Amino acid sequence: MAEDLQIKLGTKEEQYQSLLPQIKGLVHGEIDLIANLANVVAALKEQFGWFWVGFYLVKNNELVLGPFQGPVACTRIKKGRGVCGACWEKAETIIVPDVEKFPGHIACSSLSKSEIVIPILQNNEVVGVLDVDSDSFNHFDEIDQLYLEQIVSMLHF
Ligand code: SME
Repeated sequence: MAEDLQIKLGTKEEQYQSLLPQIKGLVHGEIDLIANLANVVAALKEQFGWFWVGFYLVKNNELVLGPFQGPVACTRIKKGRGVCGACWEKAETIIVPDVEKFPGHIACSSLSKSEIVIPILQNNEVVGVLDVDSDSFNHFDEIDQLYLEQIVSMLHF
């Protein structure tokens, strides 16, 4: 397994296309979940430089903060609360172009302006979410959704 990431310049799509096989290589060589979650957020942060990227994991019917890169964040989120809790409840990706317009958005940082949250499904059940925050508005779109959904599907809980 290569331990250093090749950073790609170019369009967002080109960046994801370069990153995807590298993430696959990282997670397929390791069975430990926390190690894989940690490397996935590190790789995403290194390639895209997002404000915050991290996992929340379902534990005892709550989302609990997992490996992340960025400023400290809230540790527990209930089902249906905030963007992460809504993503968990609906079991579908949510793109929020302006967090202030999302009812119930949980502001871990006032610098966060837009967000995408992807559910992680195992046997048709949400076991966690991948949350990405940007400090600019309208940062995320269907391209992010397409590739981030592929990335979380590589994870085995
Ligand atoms: N904004 C999220 C909470 C998590 S932080 O952004 C890291 C939400 O509304 O669920």
